Amino acid sequence: MSAPAVVRESCRAKINLFLDVVGKRKDGYHELVTVFHEIELADDLEARLVPGRPGEVTIEVLGRCGSDGAPVPVDDRNLAVRAAKVLLREAGSSASIALRLVKRVPAGSGLGGGSADAAGALRAVNRLLGLGASLDALERLALDVGSDVPFLVRGGTAVGRGRGEILERIDGVPKMPFGLLHPSFAISTAEAYAAVVPPYGEGEGVDAVVAALVAGDARRLGVACRNALEVPAARVEPRLAAALAAARGACGPVVHMSGSGSTLFVPDVFADIRTEFTAAQKLCRDFRGFTLWC
Ligand code: C5P
Repeated sequence: MSAPAVVRESCRAKINLFLDVVGKRKDGYHELVTVFHEIELADDLEARLVPGRPGEVTIEVLGRCGSDGAPVPVDDRNLAVRAAKVLLREAGSSASIALRLVKRVPAGSGLGGGSADAAGALRAVNRLLGLGASLDALERLALDVGSDVPFLVRGGTAVGRGRGEILERIDGVPKMPFGLLHPSFAISTAEAYAAVVPPYGEGEGVDAVVAALVAGDARRLGVACRNALEVPAARVEPRLAAALAAARGACGPVVHMSGSGSTLFVPDVFADIRTEFTAAQKLCRDFRGFTLWC
C-alpha cells in the first residue's frame, strides 16, 4: 500500500489534574508526579510531501496566536516543526514536508498546545512516509521535543513521573466535562519551574485524584486536584493570583491551575448547572480576559 499524499491529525490538548514537584535533577529538570488528562480542545494539523530541500519542514499557522497575542513561531521554535525534523532524521528520510496548523489552543497556557502539535506531527509524519514506527517508539522520540509530548502521542489519562515521560495509563475513566478559564496572559513554563523552591513534595494526594477520576466523581475530583506550580507561577505572573482569586470567588475552591498556567479549570462545571452557570456568568463579567470552554 502506498503512503498517503496528505494526512490530518487532531492535536488534542491536556490538563494536569494533579501536579507535584518531588525534586530537582542535575540536568535542571524537575521530577514530577502529575496526572495528565486529554481534553477535547484541539489544534488541527495537516502534513503533505512537497518538493523542496531534503529534510526541510515548513509550517503555515492559521488561527489563534499566543495567549498574550504573540504570534505562533513558524521556524524551528515551533514544536511541530521540531518534532517532524526529529522523526525525519531518525528515519534517515530526505523527504521535504509542509505542515499546516489550525491553532485553537492558546500558547503558554498550560494546556500543552505546542506539545500536542508536536505529538500530532510525529503521528502525521509517521503515516505520511509509511514509516510504521510504533507509538512506543514515537513516545521515546517525543521526549527530545518536550516533557509533555510523550503523553500527548497517545493522550487519554495517565499518571506521569520523571519529567512526565514515565507514564502509567489509567483506563476506564468516564467522560467528564471541565470548564476552562483562560486569562489573557501567558506564563513561561521555564520561568514557573525556575521559581520552585524546596522543600519538595512527595506526590501525596495523587491516588485520591485517580480514584475520583475512575469513579467519575467530579465533585470529589474538584476537592482532590492540586498543583504545586500555582505559588511559583503566581510569583512569576502576579496577575495569576488575581485570576485565581476571582475564579475561586465565583466558583469556589474547585478551581485549579493546569500545568504551569495560565489556564484554570473547574472539574464539576455541570454538577449543579444553575449555580455553575451563574458563577461562570459572574466570572466573565467580573474578569475581562476569561473565556469559558466546556
Ligand atoms: O520539557 P519542556 O521543554 O516542555 O520544558 C520547558 C522548561 O520547563 C524546561 O526547560 C525546564 O526549565 C522546565 N521543566 C522542568 N521540569 C520538568 C519540565 C519542564 O524544570 N519536568
